Amino acid sequence: MEILTGNVNEEKHVPFVEELEKGYRVTVGKPALHPMVEVHYIEYIELFIDGEKVATKEFKPGDEPVAEFEVKKGKEVFAREFCNLHGLWQGEL
Ligand SMILES: [Fe+2]
Repeated sequence: MEILTGNVNEEKHVPFVEELEKGYRVTVGKPALHPMVEVHYIEYIELFIDGEKVATKEFKPGDEPVAEFEVKKGKEVFAREFCNLHGLWQGEL
């Protein structure tokens, strides 16, 4: 599957990754949260640290497309999310 990316401040599909005290928060839609309706929603968010997928959160329509992961921190951190209409997107810390 092609992995898409873009400017996190303009493109609502690019995962916005923030560091927390004990892990990371990933939000889909920094400019405005991505829709979460039956016909158009985020199916999952995955977190990758230092080349490995360390966590996944799945969503249903109506959920908020935000995930907080309590994980061991690393150097290289990025997230991917899958939109049922617009595909797989990646954004880094
Ligand atoms: Fe979408």
